[in-house]
Amino acid sequence: MLLHIASDHGGLELKEFIRQHLLDRSVEVKDCGTINTDSVDYPDFGEKVAGAVSDGSADLGVLICGTGIGMSIVANKFPGVRAALAHDKFTAQMAKEHNNANVLVLGGRILTAAEAEVLIDTWLDSAFEAGRHQRRLDKIAELEQRLCKAKS
Ligand code: RB5
Repeated sequence: MLLHIASDHGGLELKEFIRQHLLDRSVEVKDCGTINTDSVDYPDFGEKVAGAVSDGSADLGVLICGTGIGMSIVANKFPGVRAALAHDKFTAQMAKEHNNANVLVLGGRILTAAEAEVLIDTWLDSAFEAGRHQRRLDKIAELEQRLCKAKS
């Protein structure tokens, strides 16, 4: 299982902490930046991770900006990406159980490292419930197809 992680400057500190935590969990991680506190644009880093999940070169992604909002907007532009902005243990759990989120988005200016660690572990350790939730994800995939065809 390969996980790609990225942040902007607003999420850098938390990204470094989460990257190490994932390595401690023996998760294979690719760090897609950013690498320092210089101000950068979150779409550039969101694209790296969401693009990799979308094309299958990564299994999962974690994106972190100041609030998590910008990264969520970017990531959900990519076909097949289900990015979930989690704020607490419950939303992290639902993100997997109901939405089968393949990208978890966190707010670096909202969460403490300890809180974020709980969210990451909850998301990774929860299981998709399928059933009626799969039917809803199928509808999202079908919607993506329709919108894509309408554009072309
Ligand atoms: C950057 O200042 C900030 O706008 C960004 O990290 C994020 O919160 C955007 O949604």
